[in-house]
Amino acid sequence: MEKMLEIKKLEVSFRPAVGESVKILRGVNLSVGKNESLALAGESGSGKTVTARAVMKLLPNNMNFEKGEILIRDRNVMNLKEQEFRKIRGKDVSMIFQEPSSYLNPVFTAGSQVLEAVKGDGPGRKERTIKLLNEVGLKENVFYQYPHQLSGGMQQRVMIAMALINNPGLLIADEPTTALDVTTAYGIVELLKEMMEKHGLSMLFITHDISLAVNFANMIAVMYAGRIVELAGAGEILNSPLHPYTEMLVSCLPEKYKSGDKIKTIEGKVPDFRDLPKGCSFHPRCPYKKEICLREEPGEMKRGEGIVRCFKYGDFVEA
Ligand SMILES: Nc1ncnc2c1ncn2[C@@H]1O[C@H](COP(=O)(O)OP(=O)(O)OP(=O)(O)O)[C@@H](O)[C@H]1O
Ligand code: SF4
Ligand SMILES: [Mg+2]
Repeated sequence: MEKMLEIKKLEVSFRPAVGESVKILRGVNLSVGKNESLALAGESGSGKTVTARAVMKLLPNNMNFEKGEILIRDRNVMNLKEQEFRKIRGKDVSMIFQEPSSYLNPVFTAGSQVLEAVKGDGPGRKERTIKLLNEVGLKENVFYQYPHQLSGGMQQRVMIAMALINNPGLLIADEPTTALDVTTAYGIVELLKEMMEKHGLSMLFITHDISLAVNFANMIAVMYAGRIVELAGAGEILNSPLHPYTEMLVSCLPEKYKSGDKIKTIEGKVPDFRDLPKGCSFHPRCPYKKEICLREEPGEMKRGEGIVRCFKYGDFVEA
C-alpha cells in the first residue's frame, strides 16, 4: 500500500534552560497508508503533539531532531530547509490543532484567514473558500465574521476548511475535539470522517480518548513516554489488547462499567522525561512486571499487522 507518512526511529529532544537535554521521542515508528486512518492515543504528556509537530516541522525552538527519518509520500523531509518544506506544508500534509481559538487571528475574518492559506494565485479563490466553508457545515456569512463571533465548534470547522483548502493527501488532527462539548465534538468527528471519504484523505488522528480512537481509525498506535508500545487494528485493541498499558486504557472505558461501579483510572502517572525509570518505563504502574522489566527496555516485537513492546511476549531487548 502507498504510504502517505512514514516515521522511522524518530528521536526528538528538549533543551532546558539549564542542564542536559532530555529525550522526548525515543525511537517512534509509525506509518499511515493511503486512505488509511491511524489514531495515535495515549495519556497527556506522552509525546503525541511533539510527534505531530515534528512531522509538520513546527517544533518549538527548544526542541531538536536527534535521529530518524520522516517520509511524506516516500520523500525524506528531515533535511529539507524551511523554504522547501513550505511547499509541502498545507499541500501534502496539513494539521488542525488542539485549541482552534489560539490559532485563529482575532483581527482577521474567518474567510480572509482561509483565503490566506490558499497556495498559488489562481482565479476563483474566494468562491472555492466559500464552497469549502459550506462543505464543512458553515454558512457563507461566516466568511465575513471574526473568530470571536463564532462558537468553538464553528472555529474548529474554519480550521478544518483552512487545513483542506489545498487538497492535502494527509491530515493530522491533534485532539480536534478537546475544547468542545460532547455533541459539538461528535459533529466534528463525523465531519472529519465525511471529509476523509469525500477528499480521499489519509488521517493521523491524535487523541487521549481510546474509545474515540477505536471509533475513528482502522489502526491504533498507543504511545507511552515517547514510544509506541502497541500498534494494532482497532478491533484488536478493544477486544484483545496486548500491552498492559493498553489493557488498562481499555478497562477504563465507560462502556465497561455497570451502573454504580467506581470510576476506574490508571494508578500512577506518566513518568517525568527527565527521570524515566530504568528498564521498561511502564514498570512502576505494571501489575505484570518481572525482574527483566526493571533492567532492560523491551524491543519492538511484531504481532500480526502490528507491534508490541513488552516482555510478556518474549525477552526481546531494545537494541
Ligand atoms: N515547548 C516545550 N518545552 C518543553 N517541554 C515540552 C514542550 N512541549 C512539550 N513538552 C514536553 O514534552 C512532553 C510531551 O508533550 P506533548 O505535548 O507531545 O504531549 P501530548 O501527548 O500531546 O499531551 P496532551 O494529551 O496533554 O496534549 C511533555 O512532557 C511536555 O511537557
Ligand atoms: S515490559 Fe514488563 S513492566 Fe513493561 S509493560 Fe511489559 S510486563 Fe509490564
Ligand atoms: Mg497534545
